[in-house]
Amino acid sequence: MNFKLDSKDVWSMYWSTGEQHSCVAAQSQDDLAAINQYWFDAVVQLPINARVLDLACGNGAVSLTLAAKRADLVIDAVDKSELAPNLKSVKANDNIRFYESTDILALPEHLKGYDLICSQFGVEYAGLKKLVPVLKDRIRETGSLRFLIHHHSSDLVSGSRLKLQEYQALESINLFVLVNDVVSTMIDEGQAHRSARQKLEYAGQAFVEKQIGTKPIAGKIFDAIAEILALPREQNARARALADNISIRAYAEQQRLGQMIDSAQTPEMMDEFVNLLDSAGFEHIDLSQFALGDKSEPYLLAWSLQAS
Ligand SMILES: C[S@@+](CC[C@H](N)C(=O)[O-])C[C@H]1O[C@@H](n2cnc3c(N)ncnc32)[C@H](O)[C@@H]1O
Repeated sequence: MNFKLDSKDVWSMYWSTGEQHSCVAAQSQDDLAAINQYWFDAVVQLPINARVLDLACGNGAVSLTLAAKRADLVIDAVDKSELAPNLKSVKANDNIRFYESTDILALPEHLKGYDLICSQFGVEYAGLKKLVPVLKDRIRETGSLRFLIHHHSSDLVSGSRLKLQEYQALESINLFVLVNDVVSTMIDEGQAHRSARQKLEYAGQAFVEKQIGTKPIAGKIFDAIAEILALPREQNARARALADNISIRAYAEQQRLGQMIDSAQTPEMMDEFVNLLDSAGFEHIDLSQFALGDKSEPYLLAWSLQAS
């Protein structure tokens, strides 16, 4: 199959399902409460009807959390991708205006004068160096910044490296091409089809023997392939749709994981960002590591950067 998805498309696809979170979805309720608290702390002292800018907002995880706590806030939320079609009807967002297909580095002129500029796993995708003049230009004199930023050695990013390895191992056995061959030959059920099925089976066995630790993603993909293999030849159109869906989703997921890993910041990169903010006149700059879970067994989630 032929498809081309750019960095924006893979996120648009992700958000189109209505998913609200991208990076914090797997956390426990306690972890979600800790993240919510982190955002509540950002708005507790803001004046009535304060203006907030949520950069790279996705389907509004941060904006909706803030609006639920402080309904008076006037929130502008921007993202480069297309967002869920139903976002405008979400109850808590009367005061939120979503700007989809909007790049942080090319904001509409009128988005200015914010009391808080925030981002959860977003600004680093655009590049922190280029961001500083944007922040300077769009914030109010008395405004503040609060960002959660991917940390290059967080558990989140390490987990994504493992997932990406698993996808790469699936690509290395040509899995998606072999599934495509099975489906393309399904209608005649002849020798070509038998041979394609056999190649797929051998590839599956080769994958099982690969030493890549646990294989949670592969497990789900193999289940979906089993569903295709069980279809009678009359249902070849459905088999084609399922196979295309598996390929496109695997491709998009690899792109998203790659983007996340590339955006993760080392201590040196964060020091550089802090210096740039300092040179641009920001004060009270506070860089720390944000961890979740038990103190005895913390889970490193992100960098936290605050400034005013
Ligand atoms: C990891 S998601 C985070 C979304 C949201 N903040 C959340 O916490 O669920 C990263 C988002 O950054 C967006 N993004 C990447 N580069 C961008 C840019 N230059 N301008 C605006 N949004 C961007 C992507 O479209 C994606 O929705």
